[in-house]
Amino acid sequence: MTTTGANSSLALPVLDDALDARLRASLTLVEERLEREVTSVAPFVTEAARHLLRAGGKRFRPALVLLAAEAGDASLPGVITSACVVELTHLASLYHDDVMDEAALRRGAESANSRWDNHVAILTGDFLFSKSSELTATLGADAVRIQAETFTKLVEGQILETIKPESDPLAHYLRVVQGKTGSLIATSARYGARFSGCSREVEEALTAYGERVGVAFQLSDDILDIGSDSSESGKTPGTDLREGVPTLPVLMAQRSTDPSDARLLELLAGDLDDDTRLTETLGLLRKHPAMDEARGYVLDIATEAQELLTALPEGPVREALDAFAVLIATRSA
Ligand code: IPE
Ligand code: IPE
Ligand code: MG
Ligand code: MG
Repeated sequence: MTTTGANSSLALPVLDDALDARLRASLTLVEERLEREVTSVAPFVTEAARHLLRAGGKRFRPALVLLAAEAGDASLPGVITSACVVELTHLASLYHDDVMDEAALRRGAESANSRWDNHVAILTGDFLFSKSSELTATLGADAVRIQAETFTKLVEGQILETIKPESDPLAHYLRVVQGKTGSLIATSARYGARFSGCSREVEEALTAYGERVGVAFQLSDDILDIGSDSSESGKTPGTDLREGVPTLPVLMAQRSTDPSDARLLELLAGDLDDDTRLTETLGLLRKHPAMDEARGYVLDIATEAQELLTALPEGPVREALDAFAVLIATRSA
């Protein structure tokens, strides 16, 4: 198995050499285009926008655009453009997210809010959203509408994360995840299908697949926030706990009635903006069965994604999409 990816720690599992070569070549074009798109007439704006672009990242969303486009004619020009659109939107959301989460580390580099301040991070995020919109406009009115609807959902998800659930905490959490992450990843798969000229049926199937993959991707990220360290993730572990965002393993652990979980439940009910308490909570959670329960839950979502691929013909593209769903659910970075 060879792997594909730009600056990547999440590689695409592609068995077919010709497909692999096409994806690599297109990812290089995406990279060159992104570099051009983030330039401003003001050198400081360019510097701030390049900061996280050049810091790395898995380029997972553009890779999904390119892979989904292989279900049609991936050489059509809207494919590369839309791959850039989704990465720019994602990049912008990272600048804003790090302000919300008071995160100091992103892509193994200082976050923009840490390197400069919140004003710079917020406005650079706005600049990147605008650049993404300018590029979307070249794809036509439908793309503008899809992009706007996607962004609405992403922002709704981010806002919902900041409020307490009205009733079922798991249902609230899943709604947050579908909005903040599922929406853009669903659109990545949709753009790939749409701009490569796929049928409406395939476009809808790939969009639904992307949504499931997106949810699985965020749930994996939330498990990694507890289970991995900075050298793997390029981010500070425990950020969700510190910010008081209960994620899947926490919600599962909180259902425990086992007396030996009393200390963990007490810590989870309190303020974790304290290094000693946070470290103790992370230690207890890492060895808690809720971690494996959460991993199993994510694998089930990956299976749902795979089942949606029956709308595609059998062959290397479907195989790669199939493997991609599992990779997302089991990733370690
Ligand atoms: C981080 O996304 C935010 C989430 C939705 C989990 P990625 O994990 O795709 O971040 P990069 O682009 O690789 O840095
Ligand atoms: C980020 O969610 C979602 C968006 C950027 C829209 P998280 O806050 O969980 O992602 P990380 O862990 O900071 O990458
Ligand atoms: Mg965050
Ligand atoms: Mg966040």
